[in-house]
Formats: sequence, C-alpha cells, structure tokens
Amino acid sequence: VTDNLGSREAPIEYPVKRTELFAEPELYKTLRAECPVAWATFPNGVVGRLVMRHADVKAITRDRRYSADPHNPEFPQVYKGHSTPELANLSLVGTDPPVHDDERRMISSWFTLKASESYRDDIRRVVDELIDGVVAKGQPGDLIRDFALPLPVWVICLLLGIPTSKRDFIASRTAIRTSYGSTTDDVITATRELQAYIGELMEEKRRKPQDDLGTTIVSHVDEGGLPHQHAVDMFQQLIVAGHETTANAIGLSVVALLDHPDQLEAVLADQALVKPAIEELLRFLSVTHTVAPRVTLEDVEICGHAIEAGTGLRALIHSANYDDAVFADPDKLDIRRDAREHLAFGFGIHNCLGQSYARIEMQEAIWQLFTRLPGLRVAVPRDDLHVKWEAGIHGLYSLPVAWS
Ligand code: HEM
Repeated sequence: VTDNLGSREAPIEYPVKRTELFAEPELYKTLRAECPVAWATFPNGVVGRLVMRHADVKAITRDRRYSADPHNPEFPQVYKGHSTPELANLSLVGTDPPVHDDERRMISSWFTLKASESYRDDIRRVVDELIDGVVAKGQPGDLIRDFALPLPVWVICLLLGIPTSKRDFIASRTAIRTSYGSTTDDVITATRELQAYIGELMEEKRRKPQDDLGTTIVSHVDEGGLPHQHAVDMFQQLIVAGHETTANAIGLSVVALLDHPDQLEAVLADQALVKPAIEELLRFLSVTHTVAPRVTLEDVEICGHAIEAGTGLRALIHSANYDDAVFADPDKLDIRRDAREHLAFGFGIHNCLGQSYARIEMQEAIWQLFTRLPGLRVAVPRDDLHVKWEAGIHGLYSLPVAWS
C-alpha cells in the first residue's frame, strides 16, 4: 500500500470518511487486496486493527475469542460520548457469552421470522398512516423527518407496548444518543431521561401485564433471571438500535432506486422483486459501517496475520459487502443478484436481533412510498442533499421530495 499505509508505522485514521453517497471509500479496495488486517488509530486513542474481507468479518463475529465488552481498555470507540463507562451497555451488544446468549434467548421468540410476520399488517398500517401525514403536510415533503425516522420508533413502541403519546419523547432521546454531534453531557442526559422513563414503563407493565415484549422483559426480571439494570439496557438498546439504522436505510433506498429507474420500474411491475431488492439495497448502502467493536481475548490469527491478545478491532461491514470474492461487480446496484450473503446485519453471536422487523419495514416502506406517491422524486439538486458524512450510521439529514 502507498507509503506503507495501514502498517504499524503508518496506521489508518479511523473512521475513514465516506465521500460518495453510494460507494465504499477507494481505500477499502486497496486494503482488501494488499493489507486486509490494517493497523488503525481510533478516536479514543486506541491503536488496533481494521478487518476488511468478507470471510474474516464473518469469522470474527462468530468466534468467542473476540469480546464485545466495552469495559476493555483497548475497546476501539468512535462515538465521543459512548466512551464513558456509565454508558456501557450491560445487555446484548456490549456483553459476551454466556450472559449475552442467556439474555438474548429470553426475548428471541419475539424476533423470529414468524413473530415478525405476524406484525406485517400492523407495520403496513403504520407506513400508511405516516404517508397520510406526509401527503397532508403537502409538497415538498421531508421523507426523513416525517416518514423514515418515525417509522421504526412507532414499530418498536408497538412491540414493547409503549403508548403512542411517548413516541416523540422516545424519538428525540434516541436521536441525541446516535448523533456524532452530541457531546458526552448531551448523551448522558438523554440516556438518563430515557432510563427514567423505562423504569416507569417497567412499573406499568408490572401493574398491567400485556401480551407485549415489554411485559416479557419485566417477567424475566421478576422471575430472577435478568438483573434490573440489564433489563433497562435491553429496553434501551431495542429502542435505539433500530432507529437511525432503519430510517437511513429507507431514505437512501429511495434515492438509490430513483438513481436506477430501470430497476425501480422492474420492482414496481413485480412485487415479488421487493424482497431481493431490499437485500441488495442493504448490501449496497451498508448504512452501518462496521459491527460493534471487538477486543481479542487470546492471541489469534486473521488472514495469516498474528494478532495479540488485547487488540482492539473493527470489522468493516461496508468493505465486506463490497468484497468481489463474494459479490461480482460489487459497485453496481443489481436487485436481481442473490445478495443474501451481505453482512449489513452483522453475523454470528451479535447478529442483528431486529433484522426481520427492519426488512419488513423497508419492504413495506419502499412499496407503499412508490405506489402511493406516483412520480416520487427528490426535490433538490443532488449536490444539495444533506449527507451524514461524519456519522456512525450513513444516511441523510433530510430528504426533500415531490410527487405527481
Ligand atoms: C436496516 C436496519 C438495521 C441495521 C442495518 C442493523 C444493523 C445491526 C448490526 C450490524 C448489528 C450487529 C452488531 C455487532 O455484531 O456487533 C446489529 C445488532 C443489533 N440490532 Fe440491528 N440493525 C437494524 C435494525 C434493527 C432493528 C429494527 C432492531 C430492533 C427492533 C435492531 C436491534 C438490534 C439489536 C438488539 C442488536 C444487538 C444484538 C446482540 O448483541 O445480540 N436492529 N444491528
């Protein structure tokens, strides 16, 4: 690599900024070919590794020798506010087996394909109601503010049994938590407010148990298997994890399909193409640049490189999803390819718990938006799109649109 970039002497500075709305940074291609386990420096001062190839990302995410526990001093963080131990997650994404697996199992029946499909009609109604709102507000509409951001919040509120009056509160606190622009104090305040509300919600579920995910979590606390603070973090993660991710995937999917009118036309002519199109869009967009950070618990070998115990790593989803060892002609959006090997939802131990809901939300959103708003188009010149170049999740701050 030029000037030894990616070596111990010349580590890459992470995060690597995206410069194109729909392509991986050029550097990734070079690193995959020449330096697939590159040295990198991270914003919290940690020096560690970037893992670039599809096979290696997949292998790491299923291997118990890689810890996801942020209490480790070599944890390669990118969010300023999240380095604070106070904000470390005590459940799911920030925990290791066996605790992780036990706690995930307590709620996994809510996330099966069958369970999520039983919510498809509800999700379709939510999508419809949000589009009614966009239409009522008139043109130009903002699909991010008025559609893509509220959609996952409304859906997770439905699942957890959170009343509709609380949706705006949930959405605003979540936005602060996932923005690179938030200071540590902002993040701590938003987290405390969210946690205080979750405490109230748990009491409410105790008083009035219902057939919802929130009640299931509380019952595990009361039966003694789940510590209270783990439950609070579980609620919090379920609320936060699906918000910006799903919203940005929907916003960018609209733009990507408008950029490829022949493929959009094919989807609209045959609804059976919606599902494969969403898989390809998940690959192509890779809104989540990487899986959560990992730290090696033992000496390991990745792609022939010896990596010492206690090394911080980021496994790059975006690079893996553009690896031509798995996807031919990866820079092209092709809704007819079999994209199911994409790693947009991670893989292995921490693979996205909410992926079936994310898929249904994207499928229903894309179909309804383009069929209910014929002639849907971006209402500003391409260069005026306000892109989240610096964010942990790729996407748009707003998406002004018009329709016929
Ligand atoms: C397009 C939308 C989404 C994308 C791209 C996405 C991406 C991801 C990725 C990459 C991970 C793996 C992290 C790792 O291995 O370290 C993950 C984990 C997770 N996601 Fe999603 N996600 C999306 C939507 C959702 C939704 C809608 C929910 C909730 C309903 C959700 C809940 C979770 C949870 C709880 C985890 C942690 C699982 C664990 O640690 O066992 N996600 N997500």
